[in-house]
Amino acid sequence: MPETMLGAFLPGNSTTELREVAVPVPGHGEVLVRMKASTICGSDIRCIYHEHLGKGPEGYQGVVAGHEPAGLIERTGPGCRRFREGDRVIVYHISGCGLCNDCRRGYMISCTSPVYRRAYGWQRDGGMAAYLLAEEKDLLALPSQLSYGDGAQVACGFGTVYEGLGKIGIAGDHAVLITGLGPVGLATGALCRKLGAERIIGIDILAERRDLALKLGVCDQVLAAGPENAAQVLDLTGGRGVERAVDCSANDAARATAIRATRKWGRIVFLGEGGRVEFNPSPDIIHDQKTIYGSWVTSIWLMEELVERLVRWNLHPADLITHRFPLERVSDAYRLMSSGRCGKVAVCFDEEL
Ligand SMILES: NC(=O)c1ccc[n+]([C@@H]2O[C@H](COP(=O)([O-])OP(=O)(O)OC[C@H]3O[C@@H](n4cnc5c(N)ncnc54)[C@H](O)[C@@H]3O)[C@@H](O)[C@H]2O)c1
Ligand SMILES: [Zn+2]
Ligand SMILES: [Zn+2]
Repeated sequence: MPETMLGAFLPGNSTTELREVAVPVPGHGEVLVRMKASTICGSDIRCIYHEHLGKGPEGYQGVVAGHEPAGLIERTGPGCRRFREGDRVIVYHISGCGLCNDCRRGYMISCTSPVYRRAYGWQRDGGMAAYLLAEEKDLLALPSQLSYGDGAQVACGFGTVYEGLGKIGIAGDHAVLITGLGPVGLATGALCRKLGAERIIGIDILAERRDLALKLGVCDQVLAAGPENAAQVLDLTGGRGVERAVDCSANDAARATAIRATRKWGRIVFLGEGGRVEFNPSPDIIHDQKTIYGSWVTSIWLMEELVERLVRWNLHPADLITHRFPLERVSDAYRLMSSGRCGKVAVCFDEEL
């Protein structure tokens, strides 16, 4: 075991820094995970890479970056109850107190303890290093049918989407609109397919992302973002609009499109974070009996259910990864992800490279 390793830090001016840090020693109930795949999320770019947006306990605390890690347990600390050395694991990306109401429901994302709620890659060291110190309670088993690249995307990416889709419900007689075809939007298309959606329409500004959505088969039709989008979607759906819409863009105009392109009694879920939206409550939602949901990350039990479904569906989140980088090239990885001209970007180790 080496005593030190390199970890990637995000100083907040659209750069990355590799610094030498100590390889941690797992304490009680903790494990040391040897990193295999650590993917980059749109939130990393928006909230940390360009500038440090979150403040206080939700802000980036100058730790090793990366909140989408998957790896192999190298060492266990005393008192571990389930996982052992050599187990392949996924990490739920927010460690909670375990005792508040939110934690007891499995939503450590909204843990109310200001001291014990610490997200990996934000307030405690994350996956952009050779090893990650994790709490055993934050781990899920990664089944042999899934790769580490699949596992890394189960919490924040696919987990977030699975939760949001569960809230609006997807069925075989639904046309679905996805605004924003970044990794979260692509994951939405992939999961809507497996949930049986009849037709999936995607919108993005970037041609690369629209092309990727078609190539991956997660959208049936794609539209370039523009002021005509709502009318175009109505045209594609017999003048009525889609039954379900999912915003994965966080863009004001795209959110308004998601609302307006949804038919009477339809449901919309907002996943994209930040920004604003302007709409007219009476014509846009009230008179058409529409419902808008918000959805934040997922719970550890639903993530576990998703892992089982991914195996049953033979659905591989790693198919979204278009670029893999070794840790030494982590700056290229963040730069590429911030350009948007890619699918999912991963920093990988060993056999995952
Ligand atoms: N709710 C949650 O719990 C949760 C979890 C993870 C990520 N997120 C958020 O989800 C969003 C998507 O994440 P990502 O990793 O895919 O990020 P991303 O930035 O790669 O994807 C956003 C996409 O939206 C597109 N877009 C921008 N303006 C648009 C417009 N007017 N019309 C259509 N598309 C437009 C961009 O070109 C980009 O492809 C981010 O805001 C992220 O912070 C939320
Ligand atoms: Zn994320
Ligand atoms: Zn808690």
